Amino acid sequence: MESVWRRPAWAQGDVLAYGGDYCPEQWPEAVWAEDFRLMEEAGVNLVTVGVFAWARLQPAPGRWDFGWLDRVLDGLAEHRIAVCLATATASPPPWLTAAHPEIQLVRADGVRLSHGSRQGWCPSSAAYKDAALELAEQVAGRYAGHPALALWHISNELGCHNPVCYCDESAARFRVWLEDRYETVENLNLAWGTDFWSQRLSAWEEVLPPRTTSYFGNPAHLNDYVRFSSDELRGQLQAEAALLRQLAPDVPVTTNFMLPGRWRSLDYGAWAADVDVVANDHYTLSDDPRPHVAVALAADASRGVGGGRPWLLMEHAASAVSWQKANRAKTPGEMRRNSLAHIAHGAEGALFFQWRAAVAGAERYHSAMLPHAGADSDQFRAVAALGADLAKLAPIAGSTVAAPIGLVVDRDSWAASLRPTLPSAFLDYGAALREWYEALWDAHLTCDVIPSTADFNSYKVLVTPHWQLLDAAEAQRLRDFVEQGGHLVATYFTGVADRCDQVVTGGYPGALRDLLGVRVEEFRPLLEGQEVKLSDGTAGRLWTEPVKLAGATAAAFYVSGPSAGFPAVTRAERGAGVAWYVSTQLNPAGLGEFADRVADEAAVPRIDAPADVEITVRRGAEALYTFVINHSAEAVALKFDGVDLLTGDTGPVMAVPAGDVRVVEQALR
Ligand code: GLA
Repeated sequence: MESVWRRPAWAQGDVLAYGGDYCPEQWPEAVWAEDFRLMEEAGVNLVTVGVFAWARLQPAPGRWDFGWLDRVLDGLAEHRIAVCLATATASPPPWLTAAHPEIQLVRADGVRLSHGSRQGWCPSSAAYKDAALELAEQVAGRYAGHPALALWHISNELGCHNPVCYCDESAARFRVWLEDRYETVENLNLAWGTDFWSQRLSAWEEVLPPRTTSYFGNPAHLNDYVRFSSDELRGQLQAEAALLRQLAPDVPVTTNFMLPGRWRSLDYGAWAADVDVVANDHYTLSDDPRPHVAVALAADASRGVGGGRPWLLMEHAASAVSWQKANRAKTPGEMRRNSLAHIAHGAEGALFFQWRAAVAGAERYHSAMLPHAGADSDQFRAVAALGADLAKLAPIAGSTVAAPIGLVVDRDSWAASLRPTLPSAFLDYGAALREWYEALWDAHLTCDVIPSTADFNSYKVLVTPHWQLLDAAEAQRLRDFVEQGGHLVATYFTGVADRCDQVVTGGYPGALRDLLGVRVEEFRPLLEGQEVKLSDGTAGRLWTEPVKLAGATAAAFYVSGPSAGFPAVTRAERGAGVAWYVSTQLNPAGLGEFADRVADEAAVPRIDAPADVEITVRRGAEALYTFVINHSAEAVALKFDGVDLLTGDTGPVMAVPAGDVRVVEQALR
């Protein structure tokens, strides 16, 4: 396996990456020596440098100032700390947007955003792209051969604050994008269904971005604008990547994704092909009652978009963030469990935002590895202890996680689900994804969270929540998967429309009707808070359908609510496999029972573990590494024939105290 970063000359053997965003430009040079010393003390071996340093690196057009960055990189190298070097293109400096105001993003209501925050550039701006590539070329040209350089970091969270722009330059680029896709205006009219509300177009020039309108916009228009905008951002990623690969061919290229949330608009399944290493940023939410489930979901998505490749956790928080309502501090041990959970799910290291807590700027109250209190702090001691843990886990570098279940995310369907004009405004793609994931997590089932374009062949089970926009070829892929022995779980609002968001007629769920063996004549969504009972004792919310059987058999019926008496969950045997249809949002107990049943039928290997004890297995060339993360409040004892890399404990029975972690190495003979 190739390492996810170019290992520096001083490195001996593989190690996991440990470190964070390092912003020396925010500090007097006198502080740097302390940074380097404390980084070494904490076991830091990789830092991300220069993400927001454009204004420092290029103080004026044609003027470059790399002296300070030379000294930073040299200093880091002396301390044997490798660098993930940013192209620094994320935030243009004030002089650039002053000279080219058209770089600044325009909102749907026509307001052009002012300079003063970050990442406010229009993804279609030529002036931005020219300047950014000039900067990236300067950075790459200067540092390609630097001994500390281990990884290129393109931009930062592409599309985080600028996922779409509605300016005239974007409009012109959108027309070209559409012409590429549809060739003629007539094809576009057909695809967008423009005979509805007199929207018929007669020339490309009439196409506009979906700006603020009097009433609902055209869903197909809105869908294409999301696709176009994602492609524009991807164009920036590809342009910078091409330049870096030309100037430094042996240094891997990455950018930080925001999985899973931003998958709602950014086509990460496609973007993953543009990077050598998938990297992800993940932050837990203060009001999430089970943040560790969110961590696992993000990690399984990071592995899933990359097709199972080892990946890197580029950012997470050492404790609180500074952008939520109440920024909850992590509890003792939570940071360690979060970092190790990402690694348990396949990350080749854990990096934080950020190394040293800032004193100025909008993020001055964001946590850091080195907090405002300084090195004499519980936070820094925990950071150093985690660094020591990661050093002990070096043997796992390069090992991978294999999952028998694919939880499918369709970017287009997620984006489309966020719009008005659906049968229910309470449809919630992100929540459904999380609920299905949580059921699998609770059942100790390992899954990859994969794009709908992924190869399905390696999975025994596929779960497709809300795959609303699905074309005939995709329906055929699912049929092939089932007929060859796969178990498909399709949920309500799957397969109802094609990729142009035009409803498939003849009964829902359209393209999947035959495969699922059901036919539905109308949707019967529920009101907020309404619950319906099912014949198996579970319950549903949000949605119901009067399902008619057309080849499937009923596994559970509605016993209350608008679809009482009709099947709620169905099962159809097709070829060597099974196609399930779940026509309501099952409550957690229902999802749990259902997950168990499908896993048993599909003969998915199960891990026997107590509730809230997370277990994942990484497979290396010579050993299996079983991560046991005890999120519960009780100590557990598990049977293991191996040695814990963290404590040296050996089996056959291993105690895992509440909140603690074990990584058991078992040799493969
Ligand atoms: C994002 C950014 C970082 C920082 C953190 C704060 O992930 O990439 O620069 O703003 O959020 O949580």
